Amino acid sequence: MLIELRVNGELRSADVPPETTLLKMLREHLDLPGTKLGCDVGDCGTCTVIVDGVSVNSCLLLAGRAKGSEVTTIEGLANSNTLHPLQQKFEEYGALQCGFCGPGMLMSAKNLLDNNPTPTVYEVRDALAGNLCRCTGYTKIIEAVVDVSRDMKAESDA
Ligand code: FES
Ligand code: FES
Repeated sequence: MLIELRVNGELRSADVPPETTLLKMLREHLDLPGTKLGCDVGDCGTCTVIVDGVSVNSCLLLAGRAKGSEVTTIEGLANSNTLHPLQQKFEEYGALQCGFCGPGMLMSAKNLLDNNPTPTVYEVRDALAGNLCRCTGYTKIIEAVVDVSRDMKAESDA
């Protein structure tokens, strides 16, 4: 089936078998391998992307269900050569080690801050609860997200 959707602001399409997940379409048909395949059953969050303003596990969403949607993946997070503030803070805090959870973690964090620019620590924890990290522990990741939100608030107050 022919699926057309907008990915990171660009109209993209692919002819895929009906059982194709959005994750598979992104990675194998649209040449966007940044979104990672972990568990493939909705448990780890490495495949998180934003679809029409909602963070979703793309391994659980059939590409056909995303037809016509606006999708943002990790490839769309940085602005040309400038890292997104979340990427900068993750680097500054040493929030990632192997990095495998990073794309999903960053997309969940972006979706949180898009919808709630001043989250409490508990709201950050809650938003990232579906993203598993086997290396870093979660403290630095959460601190990095909270710091980005602090910077955003300081900028908007200035
Ligand atoms: S790969 Fe989708 S939740 Fe693990
Ligand atoms: S940094 Fe390795 S899984 Fe999170």
